[in-house]
Amino acid sequence: MVLSANDAASIEVAAQRLAEGSLVGMPTETVYGLAADAGNASAVRRIFEAKGRPSDHPLIVHIAAAEEADWRAAVAPFASEVPDFAAALMTAFWPGPLTLILPRRAEVAAVAAGGQDSVGLRCPAHRAAQALLQAARMQGVMGLAAPSANRFGRVSPTTAAHVAAEFAALSEAELLILDGGACPVGIESTIVDCSRGVPVLLRPGMLTPAQIEAVCGQPLRERDGEAPKASGTLASHYAPRAPVRLMAAPQLQAALDLLGKDAKNIAVYASQAVRVNKNLPHRRMPDAAADCAQELFAVLRELDATGVRLIWVETPPPGPEWDGVRDRLVRAAA
Ligand code: TXA
Ligand code: MG
Repeated sequence: MVLSANDAASIEVAAQRLAEGSLVGMPTETVYGLAADAGNASAVRRIFEAKGRPSDHPLIVHIAAAEEADWRAAVAPFASEVPDFAAALMTAFWPGPLTLILPRRAEVAAVAAGGQDSVGLRCPAHRAAQALLQAARMQGVMGLAAPSANRFGRVSPTTAAHVAAEFAALSEAELLILDGGACPVGIESTIVDCSRGVPVLLRPGMLTPAQIEAVCGQPLRERDGEAPKASGTLASHYAPRAPVRLMAAPQLQAALDLLGKDAKNIAVYASQAVRVNKNLPHRRMPDAAADCAQELFAVLRELDATGVRLIWVETPPPGPEWDGVRDRLVRAAA
């Protein structure tokens, strides 16, 4: 069942469902989440089952907060400690597309945390997500565990229709989807591990390392072997059905020219620089990283749905603003 997220009554229905332990497809500014009460172990287990996700891959817990006083209160039930640099990041970027890993209170959200002694917390900027989080809190739900609302390893959803397609097997009683329109950011939040004394980047997103370092007042470390399992950081992830191949513009052009009019069963996502035969399914890659991120997952789904056997994608430009898009494409191609 899909209900409009603009309708206050739908938000109430969804909050009620969450309080009863069922799942809700929740729009956020990054991608849609598959949400359940983070404090309800059996509801959270249902997320892992529906996604086909290994139960030791931790989920992000979403909290309601509009300003600093709110996020301090909203974080307190889950995090046992908030280092100063993490507090600075919250002040600067919440609500917004940033997830912080913090030491977890031992007694809360153990299933959502996938057995880690830490917890991922995020305060989303989407109006409907905030409305849902607030309505759920009125019913005693302190946070919503929500991974991206796709089956394990697949492309993340950026519209309500994508979520419905991913979980067609769930009944209307099992899953309610709130339609909040197309997600404006389009790729998942940046994840910074704040549980090890220094900030460590676990997943790039639309916030650049320079923006994060400026707020932390210290360098952002690269993740190493010690970092816990993170699905979004597996080599092969975000993959459509058709294999994705990444190529620099000249290489992509040469491959297309070689095939000429015989090219078939190939879809192309490339910038203006690449000339593509009209008979191939084809989308132009925008010049701005933010525009590309916004449409990326929808484009991969759309090209995949044409039934092609390969998706050829131009390697995005080198700048740090492209880190998030490049990361998702490299994993889609792995
Ligand atoms: O933008 C987003 O972050 C979206 C929306 C729905 O909020 N959510 C999302 O969730 O991308 P998911 O589960 O697909 O990715 C969450 C990532 C995973 O890679 C997970 O392993 C990592 O966050 N993560 C969560 N809690 C963690 C923890 N305690 N320690 C390390 N990594 C953690
Ligand atoms: Mg995901």
